[in-house]
Amino acid sequence: MFFKSDEGKPAAKKRNVPLLPLRDIIVFPHMVSQLFVGRERSISALDAAMARDKEIFLAAQKNAKTNDPGPEDIFQVGTLGTVMQLVRLPDGTVKVLVEGKRRAKIKRFAQTDEHFVVEVDEVSEPVAKGVEVEALMRSVQAAFEMYVKLNKKVQPEVLMTVQSIDDAARLSDTMVANLPTVKLSDRQELLEMEEPLKRLEKLHELMQAEIEILQVEKKIRSRVKKQMEKTQKEYYLNEQMQAIQKELGGGDRDEFKNEIQEIEEQLKSKQISKEAFAKVKKELKKLKLMHPTSAEATVVRNYIDWILGLPWQEKSEETYDLAKAESVLDEDHYGLKKIKERILEYLAVQALTRKLKGPVLCLVGPPGVGKTSLAKSIARATGRKFQRLSLGGVRDEAEIRGHRRTYIGAMPGKIVQSLKKVGTNNPVFLLDEIDKMSTDFRGDPAAALLEVLDPEQNESFNDHYLDLDYDLSDVMFITTANSLGSIPGPLQDRMEIVQLSGYTEYEKMNIATKYLVPRQKVLNGLGEFPVTLTENAIRTIIHHYTREAGVRSLEREIASVCRKVARQVVVSGKPVSPDAPAIEIIARSIPEYLGVPKFQSNRKEERDEVGLTNGLSVTNSGGGELLACEVTVVPGKGKLVITGLLEKGMEESAQAAMSYVRSRATVLRLDPDFYQKTDVHVHFPEFIRKDGPSAGITMATSLASAFTKIPVRRDLAMTGELTLRGRVLPIGGLKEKLLAAHRAGISTVIVPRENRKDLREVPRRVLKTTRIVLVEHMDDVLREALVASAADDSLGSTRERWEYIGGELVVRHPALRPSSPAHVSTNDVAATTLPLQPSVPTSTGNA
Ligand SMILES: Nc1ncnc2c1ncn2[C@@H]1O[C@H](COP(=O)(O)OP(=O)(O)OP(=O)(O)O)[C@@H](O)[C@H]1O
Ligand SMILES: [Mg+2]
Repeated sequence: MFFKSDEGKPAAKKRNVPLLPLRDIIVFPHMVSQLFVGRERSISALDAAMARDKEIFLAAQKNAKTNDPGPEDIFQVGTLGTVMQLVRLPDGTVKVLVEGKRRAKIKRFAQTDEHFVVEVDEVSEPVAKGVEVEALMRSVQAAFEMYVKLNKKVQPEVLMTVQSIDDAARLSDTMVANLPTVKLSDRQELLEMEEPLKRLEKLHELMQAEIEILQVEKKIRSRVKKQMEKTQKEYYLNEQMQAIQKELGGGDRDEFKNEIQEIEEQLKSKQISKEAFAKVKKELKKLKLMHPTSAEATVVRNYIDWILGLPWQEKSEETYDLAKAESVLDEDHYGLKKIKERILEYLAVQALTRKLKGPVLCLVGPPGVGKTSLAKSIARATGRKFQRLSLGGVRDEAEIRGHRRTYIGAMPGKIVQSLKKVGTNNPVFLLDEIDKMSTDFRGDPAAALLEVLDPEQNESFNDHYLDLDYDLSDVMFITTANSLGSIPGPLQDRMEIVQLSGYTEYEKMNIATKYLVPRQKVLNGLGEFPVTLTENAIRTIIHHYTREAGVRSLEREIASVCRKVARQVVVSGKPVSPDAPAIEIIARSIPEYLGVPKFQSNRKEERDEVGLTNGLSVTNSGGGELLACEVTVVPGKGKLVITGLLEKGMEESAQAAMSYVRSRATVLRLDPDFYQKTDVHVHFPEFIRKDGPSAGITMATSLASAFTKIPVRRDLAMTGELTLRGRVLPIGGLKEKLLAAHRAGISTVIVPRENRKDLREVPRRVLKTTRIVLVEHMDDVLREALVASAADDSLGSTRERWEYIGGELVVRHPALRPSSPAHVSTNDVAATTLPLQPSVPTSTGNA
């Protein structure tokens, strides 16, 4: 498109001109347009113009669709122009090039037949000049520049042309011609405006609106583009990833789908709690959206697995047949009469209530006395499955209750783990070694156990990992411990304590012949084979190869014998059958099987020794032990040294014992300053726990013996706490201690008189064979323990003497002595060999 100047052409004011109606274009002055003309009347009008001076009036139709317009269908205002070129096309139509010259207005239609001829009035435009016009022109030009930048359809050289125009009228008309987005009606309006200034304003307005639209359009375009890029990128990456996965192993997706389907089916078929169902549903929804190999997916899958793996409804059928239960307990265990009764009572209550609301049983006793195996029997007797969980070394609450799922690698606690393993919700659940739990900064496991064991609370046990309620009320919990001492009080409150104690030799013999030997024979493939251990052989094992309250080592040693026999049988090629020649294992051949004896059975010394006394103590594991105390006196400066594996309080006990001996110097016929010239060494050779206080009288006896050089009776053992003034205070664990003394073949045991009530628990067999002296004062101990004691009169001779002989209590009054010769001890005889010390007071002030 180009523009032609019309300057210098004088215009006729009023004249007749042929009219060319325009359908969809408005020709402005200074504008050159190409038109295609098809209508006959229009071609005729063009012909008329060509025949004259080529001048033609260009006016738009009001409606482009009108084919044969009348005068009323044509706008009055149009443009006078000249035909610059006319080409007739082969199809009869005409192509013309016209140039607009000036605005004009139709006055009237002079002719309408072949074509329109109109009489027109030229419009005279006022000249626009001044600052305001200049300013407006500039801003219109600036707007146009902006418009061109945004609208890529306008050619940049147009901009140059527009910027070089300095006439307002011309500027406005040139611009309209180059604004393709201005509507036809707006164009007509602009054409009809006579004042250039008005036109410029209108144009400015139109352009602003247009610019705004274009800007928004641009924004949208760029946003759409970005979005497109992003989705494209994602699509591309996804495709790539799938390709990689396919290379790596392929089929993951399919597998994942199968897995989800499996979970859904499981969820349908398995009966779980409503809460759990909702949880699994929710997690499953999450899982579907995840990538199958992502870490989150694994976490979610694990969680679902745990929930679905738990026994929610699965039960074993419980039996409440007490007769059967009793026979099962008897089948598995020898003796333990009271304990079995207690267990049967417990089961009877459950049979009546069909509920486990009662307190939890806690079996307490030394190692190897059958706590764990009793719990197993209970499971067998009630038709429940058995699950054991050792609490030894558990320090963290999370071990019981699990970690919250937010932790990396979180897992449910041991309770839930065990239940999943056992697969039923009503097993006998043994919490073993509940006394070996400890507490540290990570929280108190005992607190978590409280909830587990409390029948009021355990219907809704909440594991941190699962984070939903699980009903533990059908689980039959049983706990075991070696000693009550280290079980937290609140936990003890929730439990019913059943005490088991160590076995006597007689009981061990029975357990071995009736249970351990037959069982080990079967386990070692000798079930059908005629192997026997004689009674003496078993006794030898008990005495020389074990030292324990229970029967675990005994069983181990018997197993060892059986293994060796099995080997002999195999090596010698003898058939394992009932007809094979019998093998009898006798006491003398035991060392061939078990090696050199590990212990001297009779742990009494060979002869009575000076400064060596048998004490009694309870070990960490709850069993009793004989505990020797040695004292040696050497010249020195009055130092007291104490050695051995010691516990706190030992030092104090030794000092107290020493003080007592010093206070008794005269009675014992010692120099008043005897202790200043000597150093004393107290030693405990055995590697066992020395419970300090209860060794008090033992130390005092050894000290007295060491200073007086009078030996201590070796067939005697003692236990008791000592005060500074010689009073003997009660001790714990009497039953275990007496059993230990009995095992060691001790005939006399000195015991604090206040412990008399505890004798009721001691097996009759032990009481029958042991003489038990109940003492109140250290003087009584010395009179009993020293082989050649100081005279009765000088050492507590005014007190009553209490003794259990053959299980009967015998009390002897000082006045009646020596009345019952049957009970006269060696001391009474020995006493005569020592000179009397009549000056010594009979009371030491603590009576
Ligand atoms: N009265 C008994 N009759 C038959 N066998 C017994 C008897 N007491 C214990 N046993 C057997 O002794 C072995 C050890 O018993 P168990 O393991 O139950 O001891 P425990 O009391 O649990 O010891 P720990 O405190 O060390 O756990 C088992 O094989 C058990 O069957
Ligand atoms: Mg056990």
